[in-house]
Amino acid sequence: SFEVKIASSGASFAVPADKTVHQVLAENGIEIMVSCEQGVCGTCLTRVLEGEPDHRDLYLDDDEHAANDQFTPCCSRAKSKVLVLDL
Ligand code: FES
Repeated sequence: SFEVKIASSGASFAVPADKTVHQVLAENGIEIMVSCEQGVCGTCLTRVLEGEPDHRDLYLDDDEHAANDQFTPCCSRAKSKVLVLDL
């Protein structure tokens, strides 16, 4: 598992293996707009300020993945222990 940290509030939430980042945020009152929930549409795209996403979407291209400054919380996860999100 890994943690997501909300930049604006400093709050951190653990993301267990059986939940998506989107689900964990929603459970904590932080609603991100989602549509496909499969990494295809880009609706949920969220800026990443620190950490390395584990990209699992088909929406961003290779260069965008390598930049590590945005990810799709409906399906993507983290390679680093913490992802700081611009929320
Ligand atoms: Fe479609 Fe995340 S909801 S890419």
